[in-house]
Amino acid sequence: MSNRRRFMKMASLGSLFAFGAKAQQIPSPTQIEGPFYPTYEQKDKDFDLTKFKGSQQSAKGTIIEVFGRVLDLQGKPIENATVDLWQANAAGRYRHPHDDNNAPLDPNFQGWSIVPSGKKGEFKFKTILPGAYPIGKKRLRPPHIHFKVSKKDYHELTTQMYFPGQDLNKKDNLLQRLSKKEQDLLIAKKIEGKIPRYEFSIYLKEV
Ligand SMILES: [Fe+2]
Repeated sequence: MSNRRRFMKMASLGSLFAFGAKAQQIPSPTQIEGPFYPTYEQKDKDFDLTKFKGSQQSAKGTIIEVFGRVLDLQGKPIENATVDLWQANAAGRYRHPHDDNNAPLDPNFQGWSIVPSGKKGEFKFKTILPGAYPIGKKRLRPPHIHFKVSKKDYHELTTQMYFPGQDLNKKDNLLQRLSKKEQDLLIAKKIEGKIPRYEFSIYLKEV
């Protein structure tokens, strides 16, 4: 090997190590808010979307839990971020005046929650697996949960969480326009259990 080639090889290895040392996460990609951000006030926006406080009735659908974390780009937890999330019910309908999907509303589904992240950046909520819903005549959106996450000194993030193993993910324009790495960030990881659990990490960029 010539000295020049040896030098080039060393240099590229060096830059690899340098990259490794400084490796940082990319921020979670943004996704559109969509037309169904809740417009109504509701007293109950707690972590349990499967029922309204004080009610014995539960929402229809498959109950799931989402365990999330809010992190900075170095992977450090962000405490007390505001995690605002909303979603369609099991039938794919939002409680929103502009949702003209014929699917039924579910009077027991809370649909909207605002929870703070804890000391380790963690947040948790219980909900039902959202249904897919039509966009126009030809497209179906895969099941997803909308998120708006904010914290002082960080860029506010509006995004969507997707579910693994959904065939509709492969046909969804919003998801497919992202790189593979970005898609991986928005598709939660499933942990099997009596109640299926989905893990979702959110990475915020400092201002
Ligand atoms: Fe949506």
